[in-house]
Amino acid sequence: MSSPLIPTKQPLAAILGLGMCVPERVLTNDDLAQMVDTSDEWITSRTGIRQRRIADDNTTTSDLAAEAAIRALDDAKVHPDELDLILCATATGDYIWPATACVVQRKIGAYRAGAFDLSAACAGFCYGLAVAGAFIQSHAAQRILLIGADALSKHVDWNDRSTCVLFGDGAGAAVLGPNDSGQGVLTSVLGANGDGLEMVWLPHGGTRSPLTPELIENGQNKLIMQGREVYRFAVQVIPEAIQQALQKACLSPSQVDWLVMHQANIRIVEAVAERLQIPKERVFINIDRYGNTSAASVPIALTEAVQQNLLKPGQIVVTAGFGAGLVWGVNVIRWNAK
Ligand code: ACO
Repeated sequence: MSSPLIPTKQPLAAILGLGMCVPERVLTNDDLAQMVDTSDEWITSRTGIRQRRIADDNTTTSDLAAEAAIRALDDAKVHPDELDLILCATATGDYIWPATACVVQRKIGAYRAGAFDLSAACAGFCYGLAVAGAFIQSHAAQRILLIGADALSKHVDWNDRSTCVLFGDGAGAAVLGPNDSGQGVLTSVLGANGDGLEMVWLPHGGTRSPLTPELIENGQNKLIMQGREVYRFAVQVIPEAIQQALQKACLSPSQVDWLVMHQANIRIVEAVAERLQIPKERVFINIDRYGNTSAASVPIALTEAVQQNLLKPGQIVVTAGFGAGLVWGVNVIRWNAK
């Protein structure tokens, strides 16, 4: 006999609505070639990126996040008052504290909701789907707003051609709620390897090394990355994590209808798909228009895939992200009808 106090049925966290927001300003590869020693040919062939969006000086991460959130709420037909929790995955919050999730809460007027940030760099949205899934499965929340938002352009060294060509700004958001018919986030795999923390990081500006006028003057307050090592890490760890997440869901790569991965480099996405023998027709790509938008990358890709009517109810959608930490996260989702 089951206790009436302990819920026996565990709903899945389903995506009820999606939204995105990118800044208006477009920065093309040709524009970059005027700024550093690079070319459209190099950037396109090495990364797949043709252009990216850059926030102006007055636009913050929370501005993009709040707009994406409003669009996702509208898509889900959920009122801000109905939200129990706001989770904002970001590495470029408006402030060191408070959380950008609290800034978003004020902007959208969701005063019933708890709010906190999640720091998992470019894997933030995938980590967030796992967290939201756990809250919903345990009946701790009914309506969750999960945002991935970053404005890395504000932390990039615009004189460093090996990093500045890669990143763009943006935000994507999802509203999640319980689904009792087996549709939603089926499984997640989260991983981290702190030994790789120097592979992509912002070493100054925290408690270890507070910013000084000298650091700023020498341009040492910017993102540093060992691109080749991050590349190698991603193409090794992501296929393994996807296999693990699929196995937990009793599925195989051949059953994946859509792979919606972090858009860091088209060659990484293609290498992962090839390792898993997922045909390229089932791989969503939009890196050409946005570059690497960090935590926003996966939710922007999901939003566009839905807008293009690609994801159908019942299909298996795999999301995957990786980034600074090093961290990685994978979710297997059975896509739900709205
Ligand atoms: N334009 C022209 N030449 C360039 C540029 C550029 N923008 N950038 C580098 N080069 C040169 C290099 O100097 C080098 O020249 P050399 O051979 O004379 O030394 C040559 O191109 C090759 O450089 P590599 O670094 O070997 O180029 P690679 O093919 O590895 O591509 C890249 C570099 C695009 C960074 C790739 O390694 C990559 O995508 N790595 C993964 C990055 C990533 O996914 N980051 C995600 C985490 S970000 C986060 O969490 C915030």
